[in-house]
Amino acid sequence: MVKFLDLQKITALYSDEINRAIERTTNGGWFLNGVEVQLFEKEYAHYIGTNRCVSCANGLDALWLIFRAYIELGRLKPGDEVIVPANTFIATVLAISENGLIPVFAEPDGNSLQISLSAVKSVMTPKTKAICIVHLYGRCAFTPELADFCKTSGLLMVEDNAQAHGCRYGNSKTGSLGDAAGHSFYPGKILGALGDGGAVTTNDNELADVIRALANYGSEKKYYCGFKGKNSRLDEIQAAVLRIKLKSLENDIAARKRVAQFYVDNITNPKVTLPGKELLTDHVYHLFPVLCAERDRLQKYLFENGVETVIHYPVPPHKQICYQEYNSISLPVTERLAAQELSLPMSPVLTEAEMNKVVECVNSFE
Ligand SMILES: Cc1ncc(COP(=O)(O)O)c(C=O)c1O
Repeated sequence: MVKFLDLQKITALYSDEINRAIERTTNGGWFLNGVEVQLFEKEYAHYIGTNRCVSCANGLDALWLIFRAYIELGRLKPGDEVIVPANTFIATVLAISENGLIPVFAEPDGNSLQISLSAVKSVMTPKTKAICIVHLYGRCAFTPELADFCKTSGLLMVEDNAQAHGCRYGNSKTGSLGDAAGHSFYPGKILGALGDGGAVTTNDNELADVIRALANYGSEKKYYCGFKGKNSRLDEIQAAVLRIKLKSLENDIAARKRVAQFYVDNITNPKVTLPGKELLTDHVYHLFPVLCAERDRLQKYLFENGVETVIHYPVPPHKQICYQEYNSISLPVTERLAAQELSLPMSPVLTEAEMNKVVECVNSFE
């Protein structure tokens, strides 16, 4: 079976270094808010190209903390609308709604699968105060047109960079392009920990300070709380692991791009579309999505022939039971993507034989 993602194999590449780091941390007896976290934040901010990085417990928290901090700073208020691509993972939307802000769904472009300026304009109202762009699947969603529009309309631009560590727009990295960005280090991500982890990157010192406090029970000074915060921490062992894996991130991305190029060059089945394959936008291939009108049959066929795949995502946020208030909205592009998307095996450790098998199986689907 070609695994969708072989985390055992990926982790084994670093096992000596990771074991040494765990031993060092364990022997040091200091497990939270220590030197590994400080160093990771410094190194990750440097990698992304921002002044600040504040680590936290996961990617949802990172986004939640950004929106909550904007509310605490008076730059957003409950009831404000935040435009979000309709085809994102639920966490992007939860971070908005769970702060009393109103998510407003914009249809993605059916080829790039990213939010477009025209879609943003079509859902814009006087209550719109921010846009959350999502670098979904690893493809850069930033455009200078969107940035100009945000600037001239006085909108904040938040980036959901959970899936696109290392992705670039020109010489800049995603995570440094908007006003603030949320990152996830969930194990399956391009930069993944051995458990949960997350971070916010920003050049806004005031925002970073509030986020730091919010992630620490709302407290800047121990036992004195200026905000009603939460406990959201990256621990020392995860920070140490991320520091190790950060050093290989560029190589990992290059390997992912090689896999993607192989798929692009060799998948020829007319029943299977490779969305945006001709686009020049940088793509770091957290995932390799294909579209197929008979997606479920294709998935079954691949599985029966030894290729594991995953659907990202079968139910879009506006059709989830938890968002009944949006269930009646019709978003045909998003709903078509949810019905047709299938993610092929993608990772830096796929072998040539595995890639060949994936291509052969996709091409032999009738
Ligand atoms: C686009 C997107 N946003 C946010 C998140 C949330 O990250 P986490 O799982 O670390 O909470 C994820 C991760 O699954 C994601 O894919």
